[in-house]
Amino acid sequence: MKKLLMIPGPTPVVDSIREQMARDTVAFGDPGFIDDFKQVLKDLKELWSCDGEAFVVAGSGSLAMEMALANTLQAGDKLLLASNGFFGDRFIEIAERKGIDLTLLQAEWGQTITPEQVDDKLKDGGFKAVALTQVDTSTGVLAPVRQIGEVVAKYDDVLFIVDGVCSVGGEPVDLEADQIDVLFTGSQKAFGVCPGLMMLWANQKSLARREALGQIPEYYCDYQKWLPIMQDPAKYFATPPINLIWALQESIRLMKQEGLEQRYQRHEKNAKAMQQAFEAIGFRILADKDHRAHTLSNLLYPAGIDDLAFRTKLAEEGVQAAGGVGQYAGKMLRVGHMGNADQHTMIATLAALERTMKHFQSDFELGRGVSAYLSALEQS
Ligand SMILES: Cc1ncc(COP(=O)(O)O)c(C=O)c1O
Repeated sequence: MKKLLMIPGPTPVVDSIREQMARDTVAFGDPGFIDDFKQVLKDLKELWSCDGEAFVVAGSGSLAMEMALANTLQAGDKLLLASNGFFGDRFIEIAERKGIDLTLLQAEWGQTITPEQVDDKLKDGGFKAVALTQVDTSTGVLAPVRQIGEVVAKYDDVLFIVDGVCSVGGEPVDLEADQIDVLFTGSQKAFGVCPGLMMLWANQKSLARREALGQIPEYYCDYQKWLPIMQDPAKYFATPPINLIWALQESIRLMKQEGLEQRYQRHEKNAKAMQQAFEAIGFRILADKDHRAHTLSNLLYPAGIDDLAFRTKLAEEGVQAAGGVGQYAGKMLRVGHMGNADQHTMIATLAALERTMKHFQSDFELGRGVSAYLSALEQS
């Protein structure tokens, strides 16, 4: 049976993107490739309203997290971290290793830090940046980025850094409209490209901060090393992942063809229908109803179901889903529904979940999830 890739990243890679990975690799100085790379950077800046620079670098989302902090803060600088879970907390170690002076706001898992909480802390003064994860993949919570951006913007010298690894390309986000200074993501989530690339947007204000820092300890993730290449991809700093950049170009072409607004609406409609279906199957959704992500769902099992046994059976039924992390390890099923995964895939996933549930609960009535999904879509 074909295995459906329904973990929250990597997500299914459609044929036209995969074909780019299989192309004959050319020299990074090839004029055709240089034009393609330029187009990718131009599109990224335009689509997410960046007046500064977009960076496309080989590496995963964690590299982008480090790059964001390394180029905006130095040892002793004050960072306010608004964490909604495991990935928000990942900033703690990065900041500590750099000697950044960290103030931590941590939401109970399933809830989000509010704009008021951020404002209260910022009033203490002296902060250089606020970091926030738009969708924390450990909880499935969608943070109120726009409202927190409005708060941060009241404080002149404070940069707003947003981890969009599980959101960009699936949830509405925009540097200008959300007053974000640094935004980043990875190729493997809502862009629907294989893992291996990070994309980071830095606006003019945050580029000026980098200038002011002078020499920084980092080498590979120093903006100064990459800026000449992002401004002119004919130049060399470190070998670009040529086929992945072509794959990204195709992913962006698909996004432009669909339209970003339509893409966000598709994600929202689909997520709401999937979430009704999950509940009809018997799962409980961890995230507060008002703050649910549209890119994935974090599900709590009905009583008596063992996580590992369930996921093992689900894999036999043809669906790969993820377990929980941190305090929800062994207690949660995480299902991705973002990027280019289509409705056929959603229905097949729900049917496999139902067959699996039936295996553990003999009185489970098949069809409940699929029916809830179809009805919800029809009504939306
Ligand atoms: C919100 C968020 N931030 C950061 C990361 C880290 O990205 P990566 O695993 O690509 O290093 C992830 C990974 O799932 C994530 O979901």
